[in-house]
Amino acid sequence: MSEAPVTEKKKVIFSAIQPSGTITLGNYLGALQNWVKLQDEYNCIFAVADLHAITVRQEPQHFRRNILEAYALLLACGIDTEKSPFFIQSHVHTHAELAWILNCYTQFGELSRMTQFKDKSQKHADNVNAGLFTYPSLMAADILLYQADLVPVGVDQKQHLELARNIAERFNGIYGNTFRVPDPYIAQVGAKIMSLQDPTRKMSKSDENVNAWVAVLDKPDIIMKKFKRAVTDSEAKICVGEGKDGINNLIGIMSAVTGKTSDEITADFEGKGYGDFKVAVAEAVIEKLRPIQERFDEYIANKDYLTEQYRKSAEFALRISQRTLDKAMKKIGYLAK
Ligand code: TYM
Repeated sequence: MSEAPVTEKKKVIFSAIQPSGTITLGNYLGALQNWVKLQDEYNCIFAVADLHAITVRQEPQHFRRNILEAYALLLACGIDTEKSPFFIQSHVHTHAELAWILNCYTQFGELSRMTQFKDKSQKHADNVNAGLFTYPSLMAADILLYQADLVPVGVDQKQHLELARNIAERFNGIYGNTFRVPDPYIAQVGAKIMSLQDPTRKMSKSDENVNAWVAVLDKPDIIMKKFKRAVTDSEAKICVGEGKDGINNLIGIMSAVTGKTSDEITADFEGKGYGDFKVAVAEAVIEKLRPIQERFDEYIANKDYLTEQYRKSAEFALRISQRTLDKAMKKIGYLAK
């Protein structure tokens, strides 16, 4: 990996994912699948956001394993470190440093308005820590350090991204141009995969009902079972429509997995029942995930390879991000070392 990719004229993309233990079909279709496609067209930089993950309590042994598994799984999905540096956030110290600085340029009121903070502080009422509150400043630091033009995310992260833009603009307004102001990059299909049990809510691994989400590493029989139990409606018509959240979601998943439009899917299943459709969606998902699961098994068995990849990428990420951090610190008035 040379520095050339980031100095070429291609636009820079940054994105990250938390190592939550269960990377879901929502993560895959809403984010990872797009990351893989973007690698040739852009200068992509990706990370496992393990600093973000301790905003909720982690059990050390599980946490360590989850970080490595998330790393292996993303390689299995098709992230190629030769094209896109892909590192572990806690290995690159500039993230925590810039996050502190940006905290001082982020208002309490702005952070209070974040819907994810409101949701998570309800869900973890016994641990509403300051990190949970300032999480978006760390996310802004992740992005701004690499002068990213675009940030591919699912719809649920859009508000955080808007805040990152506001922080960048505010800082630039005070000190002159320092950070590139990033745009969200939200793909048309898969932008919000909903729960299979309550399709008015996003699919999330923190849902206590395990039938609500499908994990990328779920075995085929589990995937089939979860889809068969998916909540639908009583109309028995496979088409997108108002009040048909369950079917809309299944069509969205089918579309994101196969690349077909919702009209094509409706035509394919003309006259068929929901039972058939659920099985067909499950089969399409199983086939999509099968090669990823196979590659995951290979990567996770090769720890040395994984270590080599994340170390090499972290060195690269540090070089790039240090430049931005130095620039910002100089503008603020810090003494050079
Ligand atoms: P995280 O780890 O919750 O999710 C990773 C990516 O998956 C997307 N996603 C979904 N997309 C569609 N449907 C769903 N049901 C669904 N669930 C999750 C998310 O939008 C995200 O793109 N804070 C971030 C991680 C992060 C980050 C960053 C992202 C840290 N620093 C800098 C971008 C840039 C998070 O918790 O994502």
